[in-house]
Amino acid sequence: MTDTIELTSNSVEQTIALGEKLANCLHAGDWVTLDGELGAGKTHLIRGIAQGMGADGHTVASPTFVLMHEYEPADQDKPLLIHIDAYRLERPADLLNLGFEDVAEESVLLIEWACKVSDVLPDDRLQITLKHLSDSSRQITFTGYGQVAGRMTDIESATRPRK
Ligand SMILES: Nc1ncnc2c1ncn2[C@@H]1O[C@H](COP(=O)(O)OP(=O)(O)OP(=O)(O)O)[C@@H](O)[C@H]1O
Ligand SMILES: [Mg+2]
Repeated sequence: MTDTIELTSNSVEQTIALGEKLANCLHAGDWVTLDGELGAGKTHLIRGIAQGMGADGHTVASPTFVLMHEYEPADQDKPLLIHIDAYRLERPADLLNLGFEDVAEESVLLIEWACKVSDVLPDDRLQITLKHLSDSSRQITFTGYGQVAGRMTDIESATRPRK
């Protein structure tokens, strides 16, 4: 079973388009973690996911100072998106005090800098890692953990570029 998918994005637009395709594979209750150095493209990928869910992608920005943003989908059947930046959290356990627990089950959680809170992440999650290849190219790797590992074939067919 495929549990890791490695893709290359050669532009901001490709990263956003990838996020839009990935959005079709995400469901309420999913946890998605995003890691990669400053400027790797985590926020742009989340912008694509938000657009793919029908939310306004222009409102997507790193929640650096407020730590958490919420994006409402245009379509009531789609989940709420909760976008968290863990970069400035002092302790991993602080993640659990941000106030999303009441809506977590009906939301997709997207966590930038999840490496800072790895101790408190659930066993079931989609891990995304972004790496600089050049000024405009990024390697983007998806790894499914727990139950999400069983969904990687679907995620692969939704996100793999057509030849
Ligand atoms: N292929 C690409 N995909 C995504 N971003 C790209 C790409 N090529 C260049 N960029 C640039 O890289 C930067 C990515 O910024 P972004 O805010 O998405 O990164 P980030 O990983 O969220 O950083 P931070 O850790 O500071 O929140 C932007 O300036 C964008 O224009
Ligand atoms: Mg960011």
